[in-house]
Parts: sequence; structure tokens; C-alpha cells
Amino acid sequence: MTVGNLSNGREPLVGLVGWRGMVGSVLMDRMHAEGDFSLIEPLFFSTSNAGGKAPAFAKSETTLKDAHDIAALAKCDIIITAQGGDYTSEVFPKLRAGGWNGHWIDAASTLRMRDDAVIILDPVNLDFIRNSLAKGGRNWIGGNCTVSCMLMGVGALYKAGLVEWMTSMTYQAASGGGAQHMRELLTQFGTLNAEVRALLDDPKSAILEIDRKILARQQSLSSEETANFGVPLGGSLIPWIDKDLGLGKQQGEEGWGTSKEEWKGGAETNKILGQGAAFGTAETPVDGFCVRIGAMRCHSQALTFKLKKDVPLADIEAMIAGDNPWAKVVPNTREASIKDLTPVAVTGTMNIAVGRIRKLAMGPEYVGAFTVGDQLLWGAAEPLRRMLRILLDA
Ligand code: HSE
Repeated sequence: MTVGNLSNGREPLVGLVGWRGMVGSVLMDRMHAEGDFSLIEPLFFSTSNAGGKAPAFAKSETTLKDAHDIAALAKCDIIITAQGGDYTSEVFPKLRAGGWNGHWIDAASTLRMRDDAVIILDPVNLDFIRNSLAKGGRNWIGGNCTVSCMLMGVGALYKAGLVEWMTSMTYQAASGGGAQHMRELLTQFGTLNAEVRALLDDPKSAILEIDRKILARQQSLSSEETANFGVPLGGSLIPWIDKDLGLGKQQGEEGWGTSKEEWKGGAETNKILGQGAAFGTAETPVDGFCVRIGAMRCHSQALTFKLKKDVPLADIEAMIAGDNPWAKVVPNTREASIKDLTPVAVTGTMNIAVGRIRKLAMGPEYVGAFTVGDQLLWGAAEPLRRMLRILLDA
């Protein structure tokens, strides 16, 4: 028993950092909905309002603590942070250097690829998490949202050892960039609509005139109007997410002409599955293109698998549907796909929709699928609160 049954019988002290932001707010909602607060003594930290009043979820500890107060943080048995990578980089090393041996649960990517960190996605890698815990693991990091949503949908094929390689072509929502990015997208939509409203109201107006006006407005959006994405997203797309890792190194290493988001797809998928060089086993190649589109908070992905053998479609569907309670197979029909396999249908639910499952023209071992998942739920908040539960149950 690591945490759940502390010797003096008190509830574990759980420090919460970044709980007011977008991911943090979704996390608080989920923790509340699942009754997590009844099992812990929460301690709310703030980077800007120490001494202020803690939120309604607080129990005995009713004032906000300073999120940079290492001594206050070090009192916690568990810290959960959705404060972001800069905070992790600043605070985590100081806490550990001071001898703090508690559990650090983090949404940021900063620590993900460290050897002493586990990427948590328990419906996919619970055994790996438990083994690491038994070996003294203390650093539990949520995965990249695209990777987590993908593995929640089609992890069954990986678990069965069927995947020779996979490509993922993503359609990523504005929320992946942050709350300000969502606002910017909607503001751009409004600006564009206002530009042609009179023409739209006139059914006899010429569509090509509307199109010309929209393009002119998109191309003249100011730097303030594109401050977050850098270029227009409303009515367009952006075929690059996160840093440019550069060119000219070895395949598979950072810098194979990939974006950091694309690199994470391969690196994190393999790490979650506990395979690859760090484990002395072969990696499954996972690669593709990550694209930002004008959706709000669901990341969608078109997947192509090369399977190691020809598996009947019905078996593939049954494996995916039976893997976990959240993967929902959508029948590969037009009607079901346009109704149930969209960001609008999936947003705000715990479902990971998996549809368009079909054999591809390249041969019987080539399978296509399309997945949609809410990147703030399974993509960010949910694995964190489930890790808390794993620690409390340990
Ligand atoms: N990097 C992701 C995105 C979000 O930009 O959509 C978090 O994993």
C-alpha cells in the first residue's frame, strides 16, 4: 500500500495545481463527477492568487497555497498538475532535489520521455503502470492527446500484436493549442461571417464574390487576429503542429522533417506500450501528418494499418469494441458516419468513436479506420484522475 492507507489513517493530501485552466477545469469536473474528492484531502495551489479562497471542492484546506512554495508542495502525498510545462520545469526538479518522494501526476509533456516517468493510459497500459509502481515509480505523466485518443480507440490491435506499422493523419482541434486558440478561431469565424453577411442574406448574390471577399479578409487578418495560431485557421487549416524538429538526422530520431507532434505519435505510442529501444524490444513504426483544423475540442484521425496478417473485418471490429468500455465502433455506413463519427457528436462524452473500418485497396492486411475523441477528456484530464485512483487503490 503506497498512498491509500496512510499509517495515521488520514486521507491522502493531494496538491492540485493548474486546476483553474481549461484542462484543470475539466479535471475538476471529472473528479467531482466520480466522487474522487471524497477520498482525498485536496490542497489547492495557485501561481497568482496565494492566500485567496479555495474552490468549493476544498475540505479542511480552504485557502490557496503558493504553487512555488516548495515546502508546502512537499507536504503533499500526491501532486496533480495541469499548470503546464514551464511550471513543471521550474518546480519538479526543486521538489525532488529536496527529497520529496511523493507521486507527481502531470499533464505536461516535459517529463514524458524520461526513463523514470511512465506515460499513463491505464485502459491500455495498466499492467505497465502497476509494475512501475511496484518498482518505486513516482512520476506519472499524461500522454499527448492525439496519441491517448488513438490508443483508446484502436489499442486492441496493438495489444494483440497485430500492427506492423501505422500512419495517422490527424485533424486536430483548436483546444489542443489552449483556451486562447479556441477563442481566436471563433473570433475569426465571426469576422469572416460579418464580412459577407449582407451578401449571404441575399440569395441572389454571387458565391464567387462571397469567396473573394472571404479570401481577402483571411489574407488581411491582422497579427492580433492571428496572435495564437500565427496564421488564419477559420476557413483554412494548418499542416504543422508544435515545433519544427528540423531536417537531416536519422530516421526515427527527432528531426526527420517531422513536427514535434508527429514525432510524439511514434515515440509516445511505443513508450505507452512499453516497447522500443528503452525496453530492449522493437518499435512499431508510427508516423504521419498532424494538421490543425477548425474543430473545437475533438481530435480526429484517419489511420492506416499494415497488419501482420489478414484478419477478418468482423474480428477487428469485435476486438476494438471489446477492448474498453469507451471505444465505440461506428458502423461503416454513410448515415452512421456523418451522425456519430464527428467532433460534434463526440465532444463532451467519454466515448472514443472508431469508424470507417475497412480493408484498403493495397491488400487484405491493410486496414483503414477513423477515430474521434475529446482531447480534453481522454486526451488530457481523464488519465490523470484515473492515475490518482490507481494510487489510492494501491
Ligand atoms: N499537442 C496537442 C495539440 C495537444 O496541439 O493538439 C496536447 O497534447
